[in-house]
Formats: sequence, structure tokens, C-alpha cells
Amino acid sequence: MRFFKHDQRAELDKDPTDVAEMFSAVAPRYDLMNDLASVGQDRRWRLDLVDALAPQTGEVILDLAAGTGTSSAPIARAGATVVSTDLTEAMVMVGHERHPHQIFVVGDALRLPYGDGCFDAATMSFGLRNVESVPAVLAELFRVVRPGGTLVICEFSTPTSAVMRGLYRQWLKRALPLAAKIVSSDRAAYSYLSESIMAWMDQRGLAVLLERAGWTEIQWRNLTGGIVALHRATRP
Ligand SMILES: C[S@@+](CC[C@H](N)C(=O)[O-])C[C@H]1O[C@@H](n2cnc3c(N)ncnc32)[C@H](O)[C@@H]1O
Repeated sequence: MRFFKHDQRAELDKDPTDVAEMFSAVAPRYDLMNDLASVGQDRRWRLDLVDALAPQTGEVILDLAAGTGTSSAPIARAGATVVSTDLTEAMVMVGHERHPHQIFVVGDALRLPYGDGCFDAATMSFGLRNVESVPAVLAELFRVVRPGGTLVICEFSTPTSAVMRGLYRQWLKRALPLAAKIVSSDRAAYSYLSESIMAWMDQRGLAVLLERAGWTEIQWRNLTGGIVALHRATRP
């Protein structure tokens, strides 16, 4: 199995100002492009995330890097209060228009504007890959989740079969940029998407970083053959 250590990843520019600028450019068509790029699979992945998080009515849950709030909506429907937090104001504004009853906060994952242990659980979908320091964000999440609370990370990962890995690489290199050319005015954002997925660590690599940040009971579940993985962990 391929295993990237965090510090051995290909270097992509993750400066927060550049990341926010890139997401501002794609904000209005972000959800449409997501559906196309994942061939509708993202809807299934979001329901699997809710299963892993098992939100209870009355719980307060942080959805970090929530973007337009699409990742938060099914958690809110399950009865929890979701605090959707994202670095990019344009994504938050689109989210607020689409989901007027959800709570949106503009905030940086590296310096969360929340007190220690104030959330029952936290989640992050397709956001961890974009941050400047993964260990620092996992430590911030650890700080804001209460002891006994849960973290679920949903992120692109490494397909488990060699055949699938080969096909998926071709999809990322050829089909995704083509789809971006047709639908999006910002092709650079989608070549960043392909590159950042190809440079990202595998399932075991993320589990190691979670453990180093203090999380326990770490497990992962592969979705769509490992194209995406859900990592679940508990704050001791
Ligand atoms: C691919 S989108 C995911 C949005 C949403 N979670 C979803 O599943 O559709 C990634 C999001 O990460 C946000 N992001 C990137 N760096 C961040 C940071 N340092 N703090 C908070 N959000 C960040 C971006 O603004 C963007 O909205």
C-alpha cells in the first residue's frame, strides 16, 4: 500500500489567502461541479458520514471547512445543531443563501474562534487536504471537542485495488479537467483538485496523524473502493 508521510507529500501551495481566493472563484458553481466530478457519489458519501457521526438531537456539532453547507445539511436534518465554519466568505455567503436556517461562521481551521471542549463532535469533509498544516488542524479539532466527543473526517483517499488506483489516476488526470473545462470558468481550481488528491496521504497515513494529535479509537471505512475514506476517532 502506498504510504505518504505527511512531510513527504508533494508540496502544493496551501497559503490560506490563495486557498480562499480559489474557493471564492468557484463558490457559485461549487455544488454542481461536486456532483459532476463525483458522478453523484458525493450524496451517498454524505449520508455515510452521518451514519459514522451518529448525531443526537441537542448535540452541537462543528462542521469545519463546511463551504456552502452541503456537508452540514444532512447532519442538521438528523437533529443536531451544526456550526458550519469556513475560511472563505464567498462560500459561506452562498451557503447562507441556500440554507438560511443553518449557522455559518467565517473562521480559520488553524485558529478556531471557539473555546475548549465546546462541541459534542466535529467533522470535516474534503477540507483537511486544503489546509497549510494538517497536524495543527487535528490539534485544534482536539481542543474544541469535549472529552468523549467524536471526530469524523471525510476525505479523498487511496483506492484499495491496484486496477482501481490506475483507473482513478486516469480519471483525475484526464476526465476531471475536461469536466471542469465544460462547467467551470476556473480550470486552475480543478487542476489543483486533481493534484491535491494525487499528493494526499493514504488511509493509514491519516490514522497515524490522528493518533499523534491525541485522538483514540481510530477507525476508517473505505467508500467507493477507497476513493474516499471516513476516519472516526474519539477524544479521550
Ligand atoms: C472542497 S470544499 C469542502 C466544502 C464542504 N465541506 C463539502 O463537503 O462540500 C473545501 C473548503 O475548505 C475551506 N478551507 C480551506 N482552508 C481552510 C481553513 N484553513 N479553515 C477553514 N476552512 C478552510 C475552503 O474555503 C472550502 O470551502
